[in-house]
Amino acid sequence: TGRAEELAATIVTWLREAGHPAEAKCLDDWECGHPVSGTVLFVVSTFGDGDPPDCAAPFWDALRSQEAPLPDLTYAILALGDSSYASFCGFGRALDGRLRELGATPLLERVECEPDFEDTVEAWRGTLLTTLNGTTAQAAPSAVEAPQIVAGTRDAPVVARLSINERLCSSGSERDTRRIGLDLSGTELTWETGDALGVWPCNTAENVELALHALKLPEDTPIVLRGHGTVGLRDALMRHLDLSRPNPAMLAALGGREAGFLLELLKGTSLSVTAQEVPSLFRRMQPRLYSIASSPQVTGRVVELTIGVNFTPWPGVCSNWLAGLEAGHEVPVFTQPTTHFRLPQDDTTPVIMIGPGTGIAPFR
Ligand SMILES: Cc1cc2nc3c(=O)[nH]c(=O)nc-3n(C[C@H](O)[C@H](O)[C@H](O)COP(=O)(O)OP(=O)(O)OC[C@H]3O[C@@H](n4cnc5c(N)ncnc54)[C@H](O)[C@@H]3O)c2cc1C
Ligand SMILES: Cc1cc2nc3c(=O)[nH]c(=O)nc-3n(C[C@H](O)[C@H](O)[C@H](O)COP(=O)(O)O)c2cc1C
Repeated sequence: TGRAEELAATIVTWLREAGHPAEAKCLDDWECGHPVSGTVLFVVSTFGDGDPPDCAAPFWDALRSQEAPLPDLTYAILALGDSSYASFCGFGRALDGRLRELGATPLLERVECEPDFEDTVEAWRGTLLTTLNGTTAQAAPSAVEAPQIVAGTRDAPVVARLSINERLCSSGSERDTRRIGLDLSGTELTWETGDALGVWPCNTAENVELALHALKLPEDTPIVLRGHGTVGLRDALMRHLDLSRPNPAMLAALGGREAGFLLELLKGTSLSVTAQEVPSLFRRMQPRLYSIASSPQVTGRVVELTIGVNFTPWPGVCSNWLAGLEAGHEVPVFTQPTTHFRLPQDDTTPVIMIGPGTGIAPFR
């Protein structure tokens, strides 16, 4: 979904600014049979059931069957993942294990990242640059200039207005699949067939009330959030904090409770926390991606999505939020371009499309 690729490009910028020549390469640019050597920083995500992303599959297959050792390789692994999946950072872990088996030398211990990885990566950057500079005595480098923020990207969404919210299933159906239209008039956002739209959802007012009640702090308590400055507690709970999945700090604050649905755990609870502690008690809200289910040639500045509303085991945040919105409501969005999922340039090429369930979306 583009995060490892973006992060790799950022890391190259840091390295070059620190005087280390570096270039970012996708693992599918790796030539089969070409030995891996030198110093390589792997930024890898995990898909499927702990599998490599598709573009890394040939590299991984070759590495698994390779017998020749890799004594000339020094490496570090930044493993991207999400602990809500059974095999957290499965590919990063497997890659690390295999490289060690083949005699490669770890430059740093593997670091595993949740979707809100900014702080983890920032700490990794300090360790990496200190290690590459060859001295542990050297202080971690000061923060580099913030990269230029481009409107219509993950960190700088644009505001769309909901223009269509149509239930596609018959009224008797247990399923709820929606045709959602988002009007992007007045924004500069561009997209192509095959791209996905990222949506930053909100928690419902009812769920925010429940969390406010558990926190026992006034709703306008100032909360400092990385990337957003100071926001009021109600706004933080509505737009920036995940109220579904507890993090380890929250489970500890709840007296060592087992993981579960956070809002259920918070019901009837009174926490004793300060405003400064609030950000560390929650995972950060993440955007959801949806395949764009319309062609700009047909629907102009309106992007259509086909969304299956998630009810079980708990209500999905974004699908339920969108399904409950009325026309005109503001929805923060960005485009997530695809690199591997494009129609052939030659439009006479026959195409077989396979899409189960809402996987049909990009083929509309
Ligand atoms: C590239 C891409 C394209 C996509 N395209 C589409 C598309 O076209 N249409 C579409 O419908 N979807 C699509 N998706 C999926 C979409 O991004 C969302 O994942 C989906 O809508 C669910 O989001 P949600 O916020 O509703 O649910 P979430 O809040 O993310 O919850 C997801 C699931 O986890 C469960 N859950 C939540 N908290 C807990 C907990 N504490 N313990 C246990 N379970 C929990 C919920 O019950 C739910 O079933 C796409 C995903 C990707 C990566
Ligand atoms: C369909 C799907 C399957 C995933 N499977 C796993 C998994 O098994 N283990 C894990 O740790 N993360 C899993 N993830 C989370 C991704 O690894 C994580 O979001 C990562 O940041 C994506 O990086 P990318 O944008 O470079 O693809 C999965 C994500 C998706 C969308």
